[in-house]
Amino acid sequence: MLGRALQAEAAARGLEAPALSREQADVLDAERLRAVAEELRPEVVINAAAYTKVDLAEGEGREQAFAVNGTAVRHVVAAAAAVGARLLHVSTDYVFDGTARAPYREDAPVQPRSVYGQSKLVGEQEALAAPAAVRPLVVRTSWLFGPDGPNFAATMVRLIDEGKLPLKVVADQVGCPTYTPYLAAALLDLAPLDLTGVVHYRNREAVSWHGFAAEIARQWSGTAEVLPVTTEDVPRPAPRPAYSVLDVGRFEAAVGRPVESWSAGLEQYLSGMRRAIREDSKGRESR
Ligand SMILES: NC(=O)c1ccc[n+]([C@@H]2O[C@H](COP(=O)([O-])OP(=O)(O)OC[C@H]3O[C@@H](n4cnc5c(N)ncnc54)[C@H](OP(=O)(O)O)[C@@H]3O)[C@@H](O)[C@H]2O)c1
Repeated sequence: MLGRALQAEAAARGLEAPALSREQADVLDAERLRAVAEELRPEVVINAAAYTKVDLAEGEGREQAFAVNGTAVRHVVAAAAAVGARLLHVSTDYVFDGTARAPYREDAPVQPRSVYGQSKLVGEQEALAAPAAVRPLVVRTSWLFGPDGPNFAATMVRLIDEGKLPLKVVADQVGCPTYTPYLAAALLDLAPLDLTGVVHYRNREAVSWHGFAAEIARQWSGTAEVLPVTTEDVPRPAPRPAYSVLDVGRFEAAVGRPVESWSAGLEQYLSGMRRAIREDSKGRESR
């Protein structure tokens, strides 16, 4: 999802930015990564590869999660170092335990509650241990939605279209949805800066999953049959932070602009979905 958004944003900016698939650049394959880096000689490497099946990671996906999200980051660092490239590495709000009541700053203590969060924390540590020449920047973000991937907004739209109403959505987890095209633009704005260490980027305002679903329903169909439930009502294998709002002060100061609103991103995303549906039905009529 993020990889494709990065590809689109880089193309819109006229950047030469090959986006590599798993087949082209498996992050578990250190030698292959190095060969690709030496062939392309990038100025910046953005690692958007990850094992993102949060619930599966609690069981059968555990090893894969630690391999892809954790140790493989060392290979990405080595490839970037071999060609003197800067590294931007994408991480997650799930490194926090969710017990805070005010936005998490970059230096807040980390305490992941899920295997996925633990594996992403290992990846952060690998990225931050990079040689100084790599100028590593770990960009933590949260609650991604956008084209080209399964995500919460796409699921809500599908359930609404299938008539599975009322939607029942947890109201006791609060965070910030983030539109992947905005995140892609943020990453490309951060790339040329001197900033290293950790920075947080997400969209505004903080909302619960229930509030997010209600806004998706309102924008998509005008209806708002969305009932609040609690985390206990819908048990899932991986625990999620109850509160995971990231403080974006460091990002805003560095880039010199406020973060975008997820609601504007949602409008763009849903109008893209409507356009795709219209084009699909026109295509069917003409066949
Ligand atoms: N989604 C969220 O809500 C969220 C929230 C916070 C942070 N993040 C972080 O944001 C980043 C982007 O997430 P996303 O939502 O775009 O994830 P995504 O849609 O699942 O994309 C991850 C990509 O990584 C690829 N990949 C998996 N294993 C690989 C390997 N060994 N070598 C190379 N590529 C591999 C996957 O390829 P296949 O399709 O072949 O598996 C997939 O294309 C990740 O770092 C994630 O942890 C995501």
